[in-house]
Amino acid sequence: MLDIAFAKAALPKSGVLAIPLAEGAALTGLAAALDETLEGTLTRAMEAASFTGKKGQSAALLAPAGYKRILLIGLGKEPTPRQAEELGGAIQNALVKETEATILADTLEPALAAHIALGARLRAYRFDKYRTTQKDDDKPKLADLTLLVADQAKARAAYTPLAAVADGVELTRNLVTEPANELYPEEFARRAEELKKLGVKVEVFAKKDLEKLGFGSLLCVGWGSARDSYMVVMQWLGAAAAGEGKKPKKAKDPIAFIGKGVCFDTGGISIKPAAGMEDMKWDMAGAGTVTGLMAALAGRKAKVDAIGLIGLVENMPSGTAVRPGDVVKSYSGQTIEVINTDAEGRLVLADVLYYAQQRFSPKFMVDLATLTGAIIVGLGHEYAGMFTNSDELAEKLTAAGKETGEKVWRMPLAPLGESYDKNINSDLADMKNIGGRPGGSITAAQFLQRFVNAKPWAHLDIAGMAWSSKDTPTTPKGATAFGVRLLDRLVADNFEG
Ligand code: BES
Ligand code: MN
Ligand code: ZN
Repeated sequence: MLDIAFAKAALPKSGVLAIPLAEGAALTGLAAALDETLEGTLTRAMEAASFTGKKGQSAALLAPAGYKRILLIGLGKEPTPRQAEELGGAIQNALVKETEATILADTLEPALAAHIALGARLRAYRFDKYRTTQKDDDKPKLADLTLLVADQAKARAAYTPLAAVADGVELTRNLVTEPANELYPEEFARRAEELKKLGVKVEVFAKKDLEKLGFGSLLCVGWGSARDSYMVVMQWLGAAAAGEGKKPKKAKDPIAFIGKGVCFDTGGISIKPAAGMEDMKWDMAGAGTVTGLMAALAGRKAKVDAIGLIGLVENMPSGTAVRPGDVVKSYSGQTIEVINTDAEGRLVLADVLYYAQQRFSPKFMVDLATLTGAIIVGLGHEYAGMFTNSDELAEKLTAAGKETGEKVWRMPLAPLGESYDKNINSDLADMKNIGGRPGGSITAAQFLQRFVNAKPWAHLDIAGMAWSSKDTPTTPKGATAFGVRLLDRLVADNFEG
């Protein structure tokens, strides 16, 4: 883990330094003092490298008098918090072979310094649990990062909630990265229970509880699996916590987040091809994100009542598996003809969405799911697909996406009974679970909408965003935890206090 510290602005005499510079800005503060100590070497190096502070630009000086390495790095014009995060990630990556480094952040706003720290920490994420033979030389070494700031108290105060969000991101990445033989529904539920330590109320619904409730849609997905299905309900009741003392209370006008937790998706009897099927260990990323988000909200003591609900199943083919053509009854009472057992995520979400509304009447709901391959065809790996019945929620999510770099793109959603929706009418039951290849992500969203009452709701199809095949500024390749920072921001900007 990368340890972050904020220290007072005094120029170190040696070591590894990183200097973020805004575009066109002159050297000021500690950087100016350093340039003087080095008799103008910094200025000359900037000229020699044509370094102007453009975003993404960097220049390195090796062994200038007394120091080991100095990294100049561009912040761009009028840097935003997100740009500061990307810069922090770039510094972490550039200095990963050093054991410690110091960032001269004394001329930046304390909040920007805090976001640099967040970016470095997010980029430093590793999952080494299953590596036993990696040589020390091949491992990252950077363990201590110190930011020199003008106002330590302000920088630390800005960083504390961000560190809680980073904890949530890490939890999500760990869950999503775990292989399916280790992280199956029961084990996932057990890990969600650990959120109790943060003050989250956690209830685990076992298979027999779900049978009693009548979760016929969710449960049919797990019929073929040796592993039982679960639902977990997490409640963070932070809205009135400050005023009302510690007595347990009931969620009031909460917001709700729902996640698809398919711990492995073989496709079931409608089995997937072998190539790439290993990716389907991360078909629980929606649930992983909801769990990490709840940890983030609790960790930073968000002043909001938020409910996280996750449906946990494993989709396997076997003699007991659900068959194409089977009809099941959902918790809402509506019946579903299962045409394709690989369209299982919507079957899970249908029951959890309906339950969330019945029990909590949330003022709005957001669900996250690696729901369709079609959303990757449509949007690639740049945007999550956003489907919503609320223009207001669409605006808020879009804004939060721009702030955090976790971007969403609005897709069509038709009222019930209109053409996209008609595609999932069944001749035998109330609906069928697929609507054919055209607009596959949209018919999936239409299916979910049949389980949503009139309240504001957004569905985020994160199939293209949950896993990255390459490093990005604040995410090493692998599980991204897309959605944790987005939804944390949505809450912070709109629903606290
Ligand atoms: N989990 C998959 C969607 C997916 C595909 C996520 C690729 C991430 C990467 C989902 O359960 C699925 O199989 N969807 C089918 C739906 C189809 C049968 C209507 C799909 O997208 O092919
Ligand atoms: Mn599937
Ligand atoms: Zn799936």
